[in-house]
Amino acid sequence: MNGNGLSGHEREPGEIDTSVAHVARVYDYLLGGKANFAVDRAAAERAYAAWPGGLDGVRADARVHRAVLGRIVRYLARDAGIRQFLDIGTGIPKQDNVHEVAQREAPESRVVYVDRDPIVLAHAHQLLRGTPEGATTYIYGELREPRAILRAAAGTLDFSRPVAVMLFGILHFFSAAENPRSVVGELIAALAPGSYLALSHLAGDVEGEALAETFRRLNAAMAESVTLRRHDEVAGLFGGLELVEPGVVQLPRWRPEAGSAPAGPLPMWCRVARKIS
Ligand SMILES: C[S@@+](CC[C@H](N)C(=O)[O-])C[C@H]1O[C@@H](n2cnc3c(N)ncnc32)[C@H](O)[C@@H]1O
Repeated sequence: MNGNGLSGHEREPGEIDTSVAHVARVYDYLLGGKANFAVDRAAAERAYAAWPGGLDGVRADARVHRAVLGRIVRYLARDAGIRQFLDIGTGIPKQDNVHEVAQREAPESRVVYVDRDPIVLAHAHQLLRGTPEGATTYIYGELREPRAILRAAAGTLDFSRPVAVMLFGILHFFSAAENPRSVVGELIAALAPGSYLALSHLAGDVEGEALAETFRRLNAAMAESVTLRRHDEVAGLFGGLELVEPGVVQLPRWRPEAGSAPAGPLPMWCRVARKIS
């Protein structure tokens, strides 16, 4: 559909399951939101005690994650001239959601959000107020079914023109056996030349043992299971695209704002790449 609203989706959301922690709600807790339950808070507090700097440290890092997401969307809208965004693994609405940043730069921007957690859908109405010139829609969808996402998103986005696909904080929920490279390949194949793919991914080779312990604890308590990847593995997640400078870097080192303080280590890789042909 065009305009602002729910787009035709092929899957129906299930019930919100409070028997086990869910990443959308854990992340909401880290960012100071209210859309989380005791099970999410308990899992986060136990697991992130092992993160460098503990719960305060991971909260600061989660805020950096959101800031870099905004920085990249701004770059794509302002410098790369992108007017269409497909944000997969949207999470519960926060400040500076993708459509807000993009439509601030270019009010005609069209944005489709995708997530598979029913709590995100329950809060989606907050996301769905875009500019009248643009479009902001939401799909209940699963990244393991990229063709279904592309079909539903085509109601809002014109895939004959460039689209930026945002995969922020989602590909580490794919194990090696689930072949994230093939899923990403299907998305890239559907994109027009001049399109972009931006991702962030938890690192296995920054703060190695602290991260391994954090996710041993979290994976035991959470519905989704995290697979940490090294720099070379994240670099290999998709090929055939032109890497935008500065390449695959730790999150805060992706084009930091002029005058910002030098960033310490943050165990997340980030990359932006462009489809040439
Ligand atoms: C850590 S949050 C990231 C939120 C947002 N992208 C950001 O960077 O601030 C990850 C989100 O991805 C969603 N997610 C995880 N696996 C998914 C999948 N296979 N398909 C669709 N959504 C998924 C979760 O429900 C959650 O809302």
